[in-house]
Amino acid sequence: MYADYSDKNPALGAFYARHIETLASRHDQALSEAGASHAVIYSGNPKLAFLDDHHSPFKPNPHFVSWAPLTNLPFSYIVYTPGEKPRLIYYQPHDYWHVVPGAPDGYWTAHFDIRIVHSIDEIAAHMPTDREKCIIIGEIGDKSLTFGIERINPTTAINILHYARGIKTPYEIEVLRLSSRRGASGHRAAEAAFRDGASEFDIHHAYCKAVSHTDPELPYSNIVALNQHAAILHYTHLDRHAPDTFRSFLIDAGAQVHGYASDITRTYSYQDERFKALIERMDSMQMAIVDKVQAGVDYRDLHVDNHRMLAEVLVESELASGDPDTLLETGVTSAFFPHGLGHLLGIQVHDVGGFMESASGATIDPPSDHPHLRLTRVLKEDMVLTIEPGLYVIDMLLENLRGTAAEQHVNWKTVDWLRPFGGIRIEDNVRVLTNDRQNLTRDAFASAT
Ligand code: GLY
Ligand code: MN
Ligand code: MN
Repeated sequence: MYADYSDKNPALGAFYARHIETLASRHDQALSEAGASHAVIYSGNPKLAFLDDHHSPFKPNPHFVSWAPLTNLPFSYIVYTPGEKPRLIYYQPHDYWHVVPGAPDGYWTAHFDIRIVHSIDEIAAHMPTDREKCIIIGEIGDKSLTFGIERINPTTAINILHYARGIKTPYEIEVLRLSSRRGASGHRAAEAAFRDGASEFDIHHAYCKAVSHTDPELPYSNIVALNQHAAILHYTHLDRHAPDTFRSFLIDAGAQVHGYASDITRTYSYQDERFKALIERMDSMQMAIVDKVQAGVDYRDLHVDNHRMLAEVLVESELASGDPDTLLETGVTSAFFPHGLGHLLGIQVHDVGGFMESASGATIDPPSDHPHLRLTRVLKEDMVLTIEPGLYVIDMLLENLRGTAAEQHVNWKTVDWLRPFGGIRIEDNVRVLTNDRQNLTRDAFASAT
């Protein structure tokens, strides 16, 4: 079925009005706690490369994107004053070197008092006159872009907004559903290219074509890893040549819709049945973990539970021997699975607020023996997070087990068998519900063409 990723999508438009109301009330609270009257949210601007006259790809301020699906509107501002329609100072320069933003269009426009400006000099006239009652939120490289506002990113307000962003609005859930959908279509194309014997570079391009993204539009650099490359957690090299022998394929790639990311990983066996069976075992383990996601669960517990489940997989697949407690305590499971179970997902791929205990800024540390865990909160309804267990042969980590109590629990012969396949990761994007959950990614694969 056709998916509408545009800002004309009537279904998104229907949700957007409520989204704006929720944002307004979050900003009311942030302003009140910060003792200010206006929030001025700066979209950001492209940055020049050192000693050069070229800009890096523009990355918008996520606070700006949370207000409107405007991911490519630098030098613009949203001015929010409680009780008033938000004002959008929309920068549309006279510029014959670059494509300039077109006329405002889409479901979001009716919700703003839009002021189009053609030069930076015109902006000040649209700012609140009582600058001392303003806070500005954004990355300000040049002081002149604050227009005299002195309170930049006050922590009290930022903490309130970041904590709140952990809970997605119905609009955001729909956008995230679409970004999983878009990503799933890319994953299908990538798998087909892999089956055709393409190089990592060509698989990457098949993916980008299917999701209709340039590289900078991807929410993060694609991980397209054939064979042993799958063991490099952030492998983004993109080999230009196809390998002589195809064994395995791990792809960690997302897509974006209106600035919201999906973050999806799949692993495939080319034709080896034993590796295929291990992927299937990891897939059922991943689904069993997803089935535990629901409001009230402490994500740290899920992560540790997953280590126990992985211990069982290691024993069944003859990669290790021993009971789960021993395999956890001796560090065997951590050597095979050295990253966190997942993270919050939203405008940022590793979305803000994963460690926040409250809006006051208090944080929850990851367990000391699991320092890479990026989500330590108790789950609440309408959080969206990833579940991404993995199992890899990373020699640097496995070698550390030699000469320790763990060594005898590892079946080194099976490790040698698995090494050329690199590893396995399976990653879905999941919405938390009360006593339930929605797997946005599995739903997306089920409906992707
Ligand atoms: N793609 C980065 C991650 O899975 O967190
Ligand atoms: Mn990922
Ligand atoms: Mn992830």
